[in-house]
Amino acid sequence: MQRRPEPELMDGPEQARAYAAADFSEPNALFLRLLEQQGADDLAHGRALDLGCGPADIVLRLLRRYPTLHCDALDGSAPMLALARAAIDARPDIASRTRLICDKLPSGHLAAAAYDLIISNSLLHHLHEPQVLWRSIRAAAKPGALVLVMDLTRPASAGQAAALVETYAADAPQVLKHDFRNSLHAAFEPTEVTQQLRVAGLAEQLSVQVVSDRHLAVWGRIEHAGPGSGV
Ligand SMILES: C[S@@+](CC[C@H](N)C(=O)[O-])C[C@H]1O[C@@H](n2cnc3c(N)ncnc32)[C@H](O)[C@@H]1O
Repeated sequence: MQRRPEPELMDGPEQARAYAAADFSEPNALFLRLLEQQGADDLAHGRALDLGCGPADIVLRLLRRYPTLHCDALDGSAPMLALARAAIDARPDIASRTRLICDKLPSGHLAAAAYDLIISNSLLHHLHEPQVLWRSIRAAAKPGALVLVMDLTRPASAGQAAALVETYAADAPQVLKHDFRNSLHAAFEPTEVTQQLRVAGLAEQLSVQVVSDRHLAVWGRIEHAGPGSGV
């Protein structure tokens, strides 16, 4: 199936509210499990960065699981970040370790070579130019930084996309079903992500794996990034 991009930012207030109210506990728990498997325990005292953090459910899970970690979390949608702010402020122990950044990638507000851990869930498929994510990760990673990016994979056909919407969002509000279907159409296939990593000079550091019937994950450590093709 041909990729059909969707708008980058989720900045409609109703869209943001519906997304924040949805139950993503299964994929978000998978995200944390993958992080544990990658050895995130070593980074307990480090500094993390979440790109496209949305309402910050993964930030909350991460900082509950690693009680001495600090996290900067960036999103370009003001309504999403307002929901993230409310969720984080309800947990003072976590609020003191979190910095929210309202900015669109590529961002001039991220420190270079500063982060021990860089995570991103469900951002990649929103990007019209996916190299924006890989360049941002390269620039923000400390040498040896752990990276975990998870996203949807594009199904083979519109029929398969519709079937996934029925399986995982049958009772969801209309706005959420619509967003989920559009996201599946906008997502990348694993081979496309592998090619993005080659272009970014990250193919030797990060690898792509299919991790569920609708998700892929990219993980590894950035010891030194290759030159990249600049495309
Ligand atoms: C599907 S949500 C995922 C939110 C969160 N990571 C999660 O797992 O629930 C994607 C988020 O990426 C944000 N986003 C999309 N393009 C962006 C860009 N270029 N810069 C910053 N944020 C962006 C959207 O506003 C939205 O909040």
